[in-house]
Amino acid sequence: MQVVEDVLAMAVWSAARRRAGQTIGFVPTMGALHEGHLALVDQALGTCDAVVASVFVNPLQFNNPEDLRKYPRQPDQDRALLESRGCHTLFLPTKEGIYDGSIPKSYDLAGLDEVLEGPSRPGHFQGVVNVVERLFHYTRPDQALFGEKDRQQLAVIRLIAQRERWPEQIIGCPTVRASDGLALSSRNARLTPEERAAAPALYRSLCAVEHRAFEHSVGRCRQAGMEILASEPMVQLDYLEIAHPLTLQPLADWGSLDEASVLIAASFGNVRLIDNLTLRR
Ligand code: PAF
Repeated sequence: MQVVEDVLAMAVWSAARRRAGQTIGFVPTMGALHEGHLALVDQALGTCDAVVASVFVNPLQFNNPEDLRKYPRQPDQDRALLESRGCHTLFLPTKEGIYDGSIPKSYDLAGLDEVLEGPSRPGHFQGVVNVVERLFHYTRPDQALFGEKDRQQLAVIRLIAQRERWPEQIIGCPTVRASDGLALSSRNARLTPEERAAAPALYRSLCAVEHRAFEHSVGRCRQAGMEILASEPMVQLDYLEIAHPLTLQPLADWGSLDEASVLIAASFGNVRLIDNLTLRR
């Protein structure tokens, strides 16, 4: 596996692949890789000729400096994991390289940053879109793969890609779960054994909503999810919302929708987890 740190060398790699008629798949990450990230790499390898994964802990998307400082960093393990999966190139840009002194752009996120994660993470989605635009600029992929676990992030990136006419195809990939349903996340490693045992309540709660979706009222479905959480004392719930699939605005009723999302965020001690399911009629 080739490791590229310099942004211009990345652009040269990408241009060479394109000249050779190859398609490029791109998996952007912040490292601390787990099977969820590696599933994205596997999928990219299945559909593209050349696959590049980036590891860059993007300071712009952290509104809390302490979170940025504590973000897990395991560069050697990440490199070994990507290599073992057959990823062709690892892009490891520096902050100076990726932003090159440029002033961050301010995007109109059409209210997507005002719901769910938005209020507790001001500026987060602007930071995400800015870094994704910069990463695309150097990697120039045909396809970029993102996990559906970060459902709101995916909605924001899709919106901006469409609005800004980015040529990259944005692909959402299914959440990878542990056998008890807990969505894989780099944060799971910080759970105590007791918190880890309690955390699958999030998935059970989402499933309780999914089970009733479109057959009972939105309020009744949400209530069913809340009842599961009420039986798990370690959960500190931030939100459990049933939302429109594109705008992610909370729904009062199903209307004529065929699809919706149920999204949850909750803390177990100091560890905040998110998860979601797509609901289909
Ligand atoms: O999902 C992530 O890991 C990050 O938000 C991303 C998309 C790599 C941007 O930094």
